Amino acid sequence: MRIEAPAAAPSVARDVELRPFNTFGLPGRAAQLVVVRDALEAAAFAASPLAALRPRLVLGGGSNIVLRGDFAGIVVKVEIVGRRLVGEDADAWYVEAGAGESWHEFVRWTLAQGWPGLENLSLIPGTVGAAPIQNIGAYGLEMAERFHALEAVSLNDGERRVFDREACRFGYRDSTFKQEAADRFLITAVTFRLPKRWSPVTGYAELARELAARGLAAPTPLDVSDAVMAIRRRKLPDPARIGNAGSFFKNPVVDAATLARLAAEHPGLPHYPQPDGREKLAAGWLIDRCGWKGRDLGPVGAYEQQALVLVNRGGATGSDVRRIAEAIQADVRAKFGVALEPEPVFV
Ligand code: FAD
Ligand code: EPU
Repeated sequence: MRIEAPAAAPSVARDVELRPFNTFGLPGRAAQLVVVRDALEAAAFAASPLAALRPRLVLGGGSNIVLRGDFAGIVVKVEIVGRRLVGEDADAWYVEAGAGESWHEFVRWTLAQGWPGLENLSLIPGTVGAAPIQNIGAYGLEMAERFHALEAVSLNDGERRVFDREACRFGYRDSTFKQEAADRFLITAVTFRLPKRWSPVTGYAELARELAARGLAAPTPLDVSDAVMAIRRRKLPDPARIGNAGSFFKNPVVDAATLARLAAEHPGLPHYPQPDGREKLAAGWLIDRCGWKGRDLGPVGAYEQQALVLVNRGGATGSDVRRIAEAIQADVRAKFGVALEPEPVFV
């Protein structure tokens, strides 16, 4: 890899192998790659001719992308660090972190400081800056519920912009950054609002069971974090050992009539009521019932403990991932009449 250092813009590396930078372990070479370490560097990049290159990818921890192959344009790797208390009122602490901070380390740090609220989201891989992109969620909590605001740099003109919760348009695994604003902003920092009147969020049945099994009738924030970590370690493959990008499909949300039809045909179908009257199905259950759990197609398989997670058995490429994903989508459509939409971003 050859390094050049143009005067004003961040230094550029050329022909960089991206396999170490995506948790699926998929191969592909980036024609150019720059690292940004603070908001000023992000703005300098945006103002430079490099930002006009296409395709262009803002990269965090690479735990929610599927690399299709070589990347002919430019990758901007975000390594902005720093975390601090930026405010406090009667009701909450306001805590900011740089976009390149590890999400899980940030969560554990907030707990160590005595600022609870993010514990249900423990052990989710990736960076703080990527958390708002799909509004990460797990075990009964979505990031949006603890979000205050974020700072971003427009990649079109280098302008700094602040997004409050409304501007982010958060939904289930969704935000404006996957819709209208897709590929237009580099998030530099995120501020969370952590409530002082804390109570544990234990509505997720599996988490409630885990806490009960540990004899914790009145769990502390750290107890909840530890319980979530234990469940996740049992069910999800560790990307350091087996390549994956977490859930490969979103859980489909269907209308009441569709649910009634499916529930009549398939006793035991898990479903979760949504605020708008629709029902969320469990994609993992649907895939499992199609016989995919633990099954491979080429070098990619559906994980033994969680059929919703596709894993790289070794040497897989983006096309291998696409092939099994399409086969699973076809089977679920044929058996249940339900369309599955991938959760990770194909790049
Ligand atoms: P990347 O994969 O690097 O990027 C993902 C997307 O965000 C890309 O579109 C990228 O361009 C964009 N992006 C990244 N950083 C920035 C930035 N600073 N500014 C602008 N755009 C940016 N997700 C959940 O919601 N819940 C879970 O429980 C969960 N469990 C997981 C378990 C495993 C084992 C794995 C591998 C993944 C899991 N995920 C989960 C998915 C993943 O951890 C999250 O989506 C995470 O937020 C991705 O962070 P990242 O830094 O790796 O993002
Ligand atoms: N199930 C099966 N077989 C399987 C997998 C699941 O029958 O192979 C059933 C389970 O028994 C359960 C239901 O499906 O009844 C739901 O399973 P689980 O509790 O494991 O959660 P999930 O819906 O599969 C979602 C998120 C995860 C998140 C967990 C915990 C999505 C797409 N996935 O998974 O997020 O960690 O809930 O909240 O919403 C991710 O986004 O990458 C991710 C891992």
